[in-house]
Amino acid sequence: MNLVVIGAQWGDEGKGKIVDYFAEESDFIVRFSGGANAGHTIVIGEETYKLHLVPSGIIYPEKKVILGNGMVIDLEALFAELKMLSDRGIKWQGRVLISERAHLVLPGFKKLDMETDKKRKHPIGTTGRGIGTTYSLKVSRDSLRVIDILDSYRLDELNNEDLEFLDRYTDAIKGMVIDASRLLFENSGKNVLFEGAQGTLLDIDHGTYPYVSSGLSSASGASQGSGIGPGALDRIIGVFKAYSTRVGNGPFPTEFKEERDGDLGNTIREIGREYGVTTGRPRRCGYLDLVALRYACRTNSIDSLALTHLDVYDSFDEIKVCTEYNYQGSIITDFPASNVILENARPVLKTFKGWKKSITECSSYDELPEQAKEYINFIEDYVQTPVDIISIGYRRKETITRRDPWIKS
Ligand code: IMO
Ligand code: MG
Repeated sequence: MNLVVIGAQWGDEGKGKIVDYFAEESDFIVRFSGGANAGHTIVIGEETYKLHLVPSGIIYPEKKVILGNGMVIDLEALFAELKMLSDRGIKWQGRVLISERAHLVLPGFKKLDMETDKKRKHPIGTTGRGIGTTYSLKVSRDSLRVIDILDSYRLDELNNEDLEFLDRYTDAIKGMVIDASRLLFENSGKNVLFEGAQGTLLDIDHGTYPYVSSGLSSASGASQGSGIGPGALDRIIGVFKAYSTRVGNGPFPTEFKEERDGDLGNTIREIGREYGVTTGRPRRCGYLDLVALRYACRTNSIDSLALTHLDVYDSFDEIKVCTEYNYQGSIITDFPASNVILENARPVLKTFKGWKKSITECSSYDELPEQAKEYINFIEDYVQTPVDIISIGYRRKETITRRDPWIKS
């Protein structure tokens, strides 16, 4: 079975934890988009792992992980991450596979990425990991794929710095490079987990363009970025937080405003540890946006939602969610393409009672406080999609499963 996990907001939804949780039942875990801009956190016992390029399934001793063709790979960052894993006793040799069709981030690209963003009149606030530069070169047909360095193909286009850089890694990757499409085809019938990076609202097509990343971070990217057809994707899980965050610039209709919401932004940032895993930047925080979530359900054909960080609300008297936008007196219920509307809309909020106790110890849906269930039921009704997974803490066991994701329909 092919199970896809994607972000249903602006990234940082807790995909790493959900992928790690689902990975137990899978044979392969495939990253299909983005690069070292991603930051996926996994907590196992007392250990915390922060991964950027290596798929989150690597923490299990026997799983194989694949860096798909939709990714842009910085070999220096990849090998630094692999060294970190080795240093912490995780044997990755023979388990990390790289698609021969993945594209490479070369040394100068990170600087170029940052300089380009600085020059923009309206900067995006990129992570500076060379992502936009590499994807641009890919689309203009000037980028280099993994297979090209093994074949020494078109290397005469490179300068000495790039050649020396690639030379450092060529031998090391030789045994890791595969035809991922063929491998997945040959293993159809096995459990494959597709790990999304970023999120729907950062997707190059469906996100808040131009304030997006450059990859296909929506569910369709799982197919395009790994080499299996869209019809082979069996189930799509969308991960979302009980509130919203965004890093970098761009419209954010439900962002907390001090004059309206007091200190809510700082409170949630501290309880939810909302600081970027990749850049350390404080994340912008806001109310859960159901207009945006319903849009994510539609554009990804999400079968099932995974709600994370619900425990962040444990101490709150009341919890608000955005059900509509008010733009100059008109009510908007469908997520608009217009940045003018997104930047100037005011969220219409519905208030729920808080549960005022810790939910981290709850081991089933039934054990959750009534107020938490009311909040979840309202979300399900609004977006017409079931919330099947609920994360109530950082650890694996702090997860409630209402439906086994590995059952097709
Ligand atoms: P994960 O996988 C949150 C944001 C950046 C910036 C914009 C473009 O951890 O959810 P880029 O460097 O990709 O060109 O930056 O996208 N961004 C993310 N925000 N989570 C991520 O990944 C992100 N990856 C990129 O902050 O606004
Ligand atoms: Mg992240």
